[in-house]
Amino acid sequence: MSEHIPLVDLHAQYHRYQDEFDQAVAACLANTSFIGGPDHKAFAAEFGAFCGGGSVALCANGTDAIYLALVELLGLGDGTGEVITTSHTFIATSESITLAGYKPVFVDVRPDTLLMDPDKVEAAITPQTRAILPVHLYGQMVEMDRIMEIARRHGLKVMEDAAQAHGAAWDGKGPGEWGDAATFSFYPGKNLGAWGDAGAVYARDAAFIQRVNMRANHGRVAKYEHEFEGTSSRLDGLQAAILRVKLRHLAQWNQERRQVAAWYGELLGNNPKITLPVVLPKATHVFHLFVIQLDDRDAVLAHLKSLNIEAGVHYPMPLHEQPAYQYLGYAPEALPVTHQIAQKILSLPIYPEISRAQVERVAAAVLDCVK
Ligand SMILES: Cc1ncc(COP(=O)(O)O)c(C=O)c1O
Repeated sequence: MSEHIPLVDLHAQYHRYQDEFDQAVAACLANTSFIGGPDHKAFAAEFGAFCGGGSVALCANGTDAIYLALVELLGLGDGTGEVITTSHTFIATSESITLAGYKPVFVDVRPDTLLMDPDKVEAAITPQTRAILPVHLYGQMVEMDRIMEIARRHGLKVMEDAAQAHGAAWDGKGPGEWGDAATFSFYPGKNLGAWGDAGAVYARDAAFIQRVNMRANHGRVAKYEHEFEGTSSRLDGLQAAILRVKLRHLAQWNQERRQVAAWYGELLGNNPKITLPVVLPKATHVFHLFVIQLDDRDAVLAHLKSLNIEAGVHYPMPLHEQPAYQYLGYAPEALPVTHQIAQKILSLPIYPEISRAQVERVAAAVLDCVK
């Protein structure tokens, strides 16, 4: 059997920086700062600086981050207010909208970037609309200048789901530098991933972030003094210690991901049956995923599997077609681009440590199938 090529290789990352990780974990254990503590405080400050100089509230995961930020931004809803987002995303996006008391309204994506289509947003705005929630999927940001212009014209808030976009930019500005806030996931496989679940909210407004922090920790102002009811969604000190190590390398890793994307582009770019990811001129892409489109996707996926190469589909069934959202009443073709691309998209292995030889093996295996 040929060498296994995973979709994401967390072993390679651990071994590459083992000494740094081991030291950070040992230091955290030695001072037993399991909740809060010096690493927690330092990581919030360092990640805030990385994102553009604003403030950061750390929380338990990226799903909670969206929920906490939405409740803080819009207030807890009664189910009638609407939040516009895309159906081509992970369910955490829409799930958190519902949890915050709002109704998700799905708009279609652009056929090239597979991101929220700004041309589709305005038609989805109703008197009930409260916010627009663009998702910076795969590592590329939505066209935020256009989204902000629409939001301003209609008096809407904007929350960015940046779970897959640590270090990405649109016209030089990152997530949360455009909208009212941006949320991040540090799920282990993300560009910046913890060793368990972790998440964050970033915003330029420090008072807003202070309230998100309180909301993530029982609405506390002191140990047993609660200004309002929140929840328990804290980030472990150990995860903060790991994330501090990784943040030091994130810019380099994102550069390495772009190199891998360029290799795939060079190796697969001449085949008219393969559509490569499109990077818009104002985008700084961080290639959380490298997603191609092709007609015979399932055959290629099976062929890669037979060669011990792991690929993925992000995501095989759009949210508006999921059983969970039948109550919203969307026909599959109501979002034609989203509906069609679900059959065509294929995520190829990408991570900073993947070698040129491994990328060549993956590309050759794809080309075997689409001669
Ligand atoms: C686009 C998107 N939004 C939200 C989330 C939720 O993050 P988490 O898994 O940390 O709750 C994820 C991660 O899986 C995601 O990919």
